[in-house]
Amino acid sequence: MLAVAKSFAKLNRNLFYDAFRYFRFSSMFDRESESARLGAAIKMDAHRIEKGLALPQSRPGFGQDVVARLIRDVGVYEARFGADRITRIARSALADYEQTGREQGVPHGALGQFLTSDDFADAESATIRLDAKAIRARSQIDFTAFAHSRHSLRQFSAEPVSPDAIEAAVRAAERTPSVCNRQSAKAYHIVDPSLRKQLLEVQGGNRGFGDDIAELLIITSELRNFVSAAERYQCWIDGGLFAMSVVYALHAQGLGTCMLNWSVDPSRDITARKLMNLPPTQNIIVYIAVGHYPENFSVATSTRLGADDILTRL
Ligand SMILES: Cc1cc2nc3c(=O)[nH]c(=O)nc-3n(C[C@H](O)[C@H](O)[C@H](O)COP(=O)(O)O)c2cc1C
Repeated sequence: MLAVAKSFAKLNRNLFYDAFRYFRFSSMFDRESESARLGAAIKMDAHRIEKGLALPQSRPGFGQDVVARLIRDVGVYEARFGADRITRIARSALADYEQTGREQGVPHGALGQFLTSDDFADAESATIRLDAKAIRARSQIDFTAFAHSRHSLRQFSAEPVSPDAIEAAVRAAERTPSVCNRQSAKAYHIVDPSLRKQLLEVQGGNRGFGDDIAELLIITSELRNFVSAAERYQCWIDGGLFAMSVVYALHAQGLGTCMLNWSVDPSRDITARKLMNLPPTQNIIVYIAVGHYPENFSVATSTRLGADDILTRL
């Protein structure tokens, strides 16, 4: 009974740590004091517009409240923090919205004044016309064979990994879906060998192979992108999806990886953040060990349960 009480108390301490960090660093209570916070609101609303334009039947003049908020937020953002990629994305979406509205005979009065002729000229369209044949032609890979050929690697060759390979993987992983396209994930490539050693020591789940890991990536998620209590777990969802994309992108380049668990108690989390000098607004999601395969090696079989254990039809 005492053991249960102690475990429950520890669970609560850990939950409190996460909840307090979310309360303190997400944008729940502070919507616009920093560019990352107001930027999150803008990304969400710009996505609402592009999503509306991509519906089978886009309703003329939809989302007036969103447009009004975007006009205000983009104005405030540009005045405080200057124009950047986020405001360009928003202006593009608004220019496409206005263009569509004009074609549908419902121009938006305020947008006509807010947008400049450059916004219309520079606008990357908020929607892309595609055809099924073209997309199928580009996406036909044997994904089952690809997925089945990936194994967590715990034996690495001494061959160094090119920084370009890491960058290419991050670029591919950029396309990972994220909530309202908020793109909270960040990747840290730990290039300093002594820092890498210390961070691997804190992680602890790499005993017996940590010294051979060629490269270490640490995936984090920026909490300022999240705006409500309901989104309290979104950093782990979006960060986890991003991490999987990085792993597959590295696999596609013939590199081996092993995800390394970051389900840790606060003390380890605090130690690693100090070592990395990580901004307090980011949560560590997972480490990824990266390296080349040796000529011959073994991997753990890690037998899977099977689709019948996973899939339920309701
Ligand atoms: C989030 C996550 C954390 C993991 N942490 C560790 C770890 O700390 N040490 C380790 O050796 N493997 C770790 N792994 C690898 C898993 O053991 C491995 O993915 C699983 O057994 C399936 O095997 P496979 O990746 O070879 O298909 C982790 C995997 C994931 C997805």
